[in-house]
Amino acid sequence: MESNRELIERLNVEHKLTQDEYAKLIDTFDEDDFKLISSLADKTRRDIFSNEVYLRGLIEFSSFCKNDCLYCGLRRSNTKAERYRLEKDEILACCEEGYKLGYRTFVLQSGEDMFFTDDRICDIVSGIKADFPDCAVTLSIGEKSRESYKAYFDAGADRYLLRHETADATHYARLHPPELLLENRKRCLYDLKDIGYQVGTGFMVGSPFQTAECLAEDMIFLRDLEPQMVGIGPFIPHSDTPFAGFSQGTTQLTVFMIALIRLTLPSALIPATTALATVDPIGREKGLVAGANVCMPNLSPMSVRKKYLLYDDKACTGDESAQCRVCLERRLNSVGFKSVVSRGDAPKFVNTKSR
Ligand code: 5AD
Ligand code: FES
Repeated sequence: MESNRELIERLNVEHKLTQDEYAKLIDTFDEDDFKLISSLADKTRRDIFSNEVYLRGLIEFSSFCKNDCLYCGLRRSNTKAERYRLEKDEILACCEEGYKLGYRTFVLQSGEDMFFTDDRICDIVSGIKADFPDCAVTLSIGEKSRESYKAYFDAGADRYLLRHETADATHYARLHPPELLLENRKRCLYDLKDIGYQVGTGFMVGSPFQTAECLAEDMIFLRDLEPQMVGIGPFIPHSDTPFAGFSQGTTQLTVFMIALIRLTLPSALIPATTALATVDPIGREKGLVAGANVCMPNLSPMSVRKKYLLYDDKACTGDESAQCRVCLERRLNSVGFKSVVSRGDAPKFVNTKSR
């Protein structure tokens, strides 16, 4: 078998490895391999996106969730979680504030909250599109029927984020309650793509029971789905979940996976996530210099930020939106990047339905 160096160099040219090759690389990379893959991923990102980092404003509009994922602080069994819901007007006010700060993409994220029926979601999406016609709207509200996804798209939603969490069915079953199936998660993602959304998926790194083979399977799935965005972050235990006692994912493996994804899907949008910034004070910067090119600062109202806790010690819950913007800009500049607030999407995927 080829050395890790040879595998990385071939991946850099061919953008694919076999599942066994991915697994071997993930399992056995050393410091030199890490440096090599980071620098090649950095170069790939630079060739395609220069030093530009896309900013998306994140609005966490409901912390209610009907699901019970074992890793997530918002799971329905967590009776200690404080639940909140934003009104449509409050969501629009977040967009207004974001717009003034320069954001041109709004990501609406929530738990799977049945209060927000399809009609309510469509009303909110079309409301945002009416007030901010030059902005993209991204939804991240979980598993729905194809009909629901179609309705949101027709109301003007451009993009959808739904992490697959793990592409290994056995591993999926250990992270989720029996009623949640990998098969349905994948069905959702292929439906979303088919409808015309720009799709984002992703997974946690270092989640309980995850092996190098699981991560290799994630890479094979990514190649098959070809999502426009791939969001990954370290698993971080939440103290009021069944996974409280597990250890968190490492910065090193997460950043390595970012680089691996960049070389596998060269033109993907890859966020440097809040989870990465939570496990490492300069995690976001480390992600960016190894191939990431998106940041998603929080636009949620200050009063609710500390209630949307997927995991313990979540970063950036204490700053106003304007402060986040300034802080982020400074951090980006410190590693030689500049922020871009335009919609930043591939032209053929622009949702023109609502215009
Ligand atoms: N640690 C890290 N990431 C988490 N997520 C949920 N719970 C955790 C956790 N404990 C991630 C999941 C989900 C996204 C919104 O947040 O990948 O898709
Ligand atoms: Fe809400 Fe997993 S706990 S979707």
